[in-house]
Amino acid sequence: MMNNFEFKNPTKIIFGKDTIAKLAEQLPTDAKVLVLYGGGSIKKNGIYDQVKTALKDIEHVEFGGIPANPEYSVLLKALKVIKEEKITYLLAVGGGSVIDGTKFLSAAALFEGDTPWDILTNAKPTLKAMPFGVVLTMPATGSEMNSGAVITNKETKEKLGMGGAGLFPQFSILDPQVITSIPHRQLVNGITDAFTHVLEQYMTYPAGALLQDRFAESIMQTLLEVAPKILKDPSDYDAASNYMWSCTMALNGLIQKGVPTDWAVHAMGHELTALFGIDHARTLAIIAPSHYQYNFEAKKEKLAQYAERIWNVTEGTLEEKAYVAIEKTEHFFNQMGIDTKLSKYTDNYEGTAEIIAKRFIERGWLGLGEHKSLKPEDVESIVKMAY
Ligand code: NZQ
Ligand code: ZN
Repeated sequence: MMNNFEFKNPTKIIFGKDTIAKLAEQLPTDAKVLVLYGGGSIKKNGIYDQVKTALKDIEHVEFGGIPANPEYSVLLKALKVIKEEKITYLLAVGGGSVIDGTKFLSAAALFEGDTPWDILTNAKPTLKAMPFGVVLTMPATGSEMNSGAVITNKETKEKLGMGGAGLFPQFSILDPQVITSIPHRQLVNGITDAFTHVLEQYMTYPAGALLQDRFAESIMQTLLEVAPKILKDPSDYDAASNYMWSCTMALNGLIQKGVPTDWAVHAMGHELTALFGIDHARTLAIIAPSHYQYNFEAKKEKLAQYAERIWNVTEGTLEEKAYVAIEKTEHFFNQMGIDTKLSKYTDNYEGTAEIIAKRFIERGWLGLGEHKSLKPEDVESIVKMAY
């Protein structure tokens, strides 16, 4: 049976060619804006110039240098700028890392406690935050149209999530032309991340949600169709526009409404980034195949449906189809050049499963997945299978 649900997504999307020029119209005229960006790719690909031109009549200050997997200590420096400069509005110009960093700052700017890291550990949703907008430079995470963020603390090797209704961007500008300059490795990451976002909200058990299943399947089909085109030629606008919109739709809340969701792949994956610095998407490709194999009995109906509808598997029993689905998924990642075993990324993998299980116990994460039944010992087994 479909679950009851409420759905509100307040983010305004401005999609299409040359839309960065519409930036100033989205901002309050009296705003004092902090423009946040990453390691400098925007200065090479022309996005910075487009943003500067659009902001010529808006008072603004800049803060660059937010690294991939946005780092707490760097964000604290930006927080100081927000306070000193009396900033009233934030603008993220970047991918998931810059957007997530901006969400943290948006919450931290109005946070009343002493230690902003508490926002990540206190499990309280952020309902009020400084308003912010986004110029998306890289499709992947869906952060441009959702209210979640994931922040890294290098010192403690932690990567934790936060979120809440106050953390939706006010607007996001999505110009598919930005994809032209994205390096191959990041394109592959984006495809893998978006595809796995759909899997996390789909690969559970049949819930009688016919439309949600087909929304999810259509996003996966579209990603599979455009992936080779994007990887061959990122300036192919038709492919780029479909790719960009698919990534946003994969994690803007729509496909998860009324259905059970899993998210255990992400929970385990974040630990691999925290411990080894592995790119977010690659951690998902490491965990997902083992996770689906380990939870085969619980997920086999949806795995078989996915096999039939996404991979056109017509032969065999339900179990055989479900098994092929896992193989096809792993092959898809491998074919794009993504390794799906932890030992390919680090020699120090021994003991990782135990560390992750222990961390989950300490945090009280005792039941993950759509049935809240995955215990730390199960997590340990899954991570070991992924060695
Ligand atoms: O930093 P710069 O120099 O800008 O370079 C970036 C970065 O090195 C580069 N890049 C971005 N746009 C580019 C470009 N290079 C050339 N041309 C462009 N147009 O790409 C690199 C990666 O950027 P990053 O923002 O880190 O990538 P992504 O969008 O994959 O974000 C990953 C982060 O988002 C989190 C992840 O955990 C990770 O920390 N996620 C956020 C989610 C959310 N808020 O909903 C959900 C996801 O599951 C994920 O956890
Ligand atoms: Zn993800």
